[in-house]
Amino acid sequence: MQKDANEARCMEELAFMKDFVRLCDDGYRQGWHERNGGNLTYRMTTEDVAQAQLFFNGTPYEWTPLDVLAPSMAGEFFVSTSAGSYMRNISSDTSHYVGIVEINGKGDAYRVVWGFEQGARPTSELPSHVLNHAVRAAATDGACRVMYHAHPSSVIAMTMVVELNARTITRLLWQAMTESILAFPMGVGVVPWMVPGGADIAKATSKLMKTYDAVIWASHGLFATGPDFDAAFGLMHAIEKAAGVYVRARCMNGGSDNFRNTITDEGLRAIADEFNLPINEAFLEETLI
Ligand code: 13P
Ligand code: ZN
Repeated sequence: MQKDANEARCMEELAFMKDFVRLCDDGYRQGWHERNGGNLTYRMTTEDVAQAQLFFNGTPYEWTPLDVLAPSMAGEFFVSTSAGSYMRNISSDTSHYVGIVEINGKGDAYRVVWGFEQGARPTSELPSHVLNHAVRAAATDGACRVMYHAHPSSVIAMTMVVELNARTITRLLWQAMTESILAFPMGVGVVPWMVPGGADIAKATSKLMKTYDAVIWASHGLFATGPDFDAAFGLMHAIEKAAGVYVRARCMNGGSDNFRNTITDEGLRAIADEFNLPINEAFLEETLI
């Protein structure tokens, strides 16, 4: 049973931290986190911070440059996995492989206030996470709080074979599985292959996050976002499931993408109408609009 926040004896017993750790475990069990692949951040609520403050370090670490500028994230607190951490180890040694960082008043530096013990530091993708959080928070009126990066095989495989643009990949994913358009009605953004871990890929990704709540990194993986851990995990799961169906169908079809049966644009539009979805119209064929 969940402990009341007042009864928590350590950071690991607070509800947001339990949910954070659970997602890491779940993602590992899905096979999305070979080695240190993938990372996770959570933008804490004021209530989370009030509860967590009790366990913050007496003296925070020094400010470290973020390498990107995110003024709207000034003063925010993020839970983050550490650089080089294996998702399979997060639950057994949380205060080593997870930490909490505070963003400074300009939105261009961070300092550690809890965790990252034994010299650990936040994920190398922190610039992408913070910039993406800034853009998604603005796009969702502050609702988006979880930023999840994983290395799911079928999504990565797909980027080796299909044209690398958001419309093409989104349509293939929508056509692969009826639930796809319900899970990601605005589609999925695509960043061409880039060097990971820096400001350039952060800027390219966050630009797409204005439109999409999930963005693929070609030959690398996927970012999925959401207001809570279930939503972000569910989005990752749905996209990878659809990609898996596409990969299998194409294999069964002798490598061809000329499928015998698929969901038509008329069908996709009918789902959108039935469920009142705010779909990305530009991704359906114009003749049917
Ligand atoms: P980190 O170990 O620094 O989080 O990096 C893993 C990763 O997936 C890089 O894209
Ligand atoms: Zn990665």
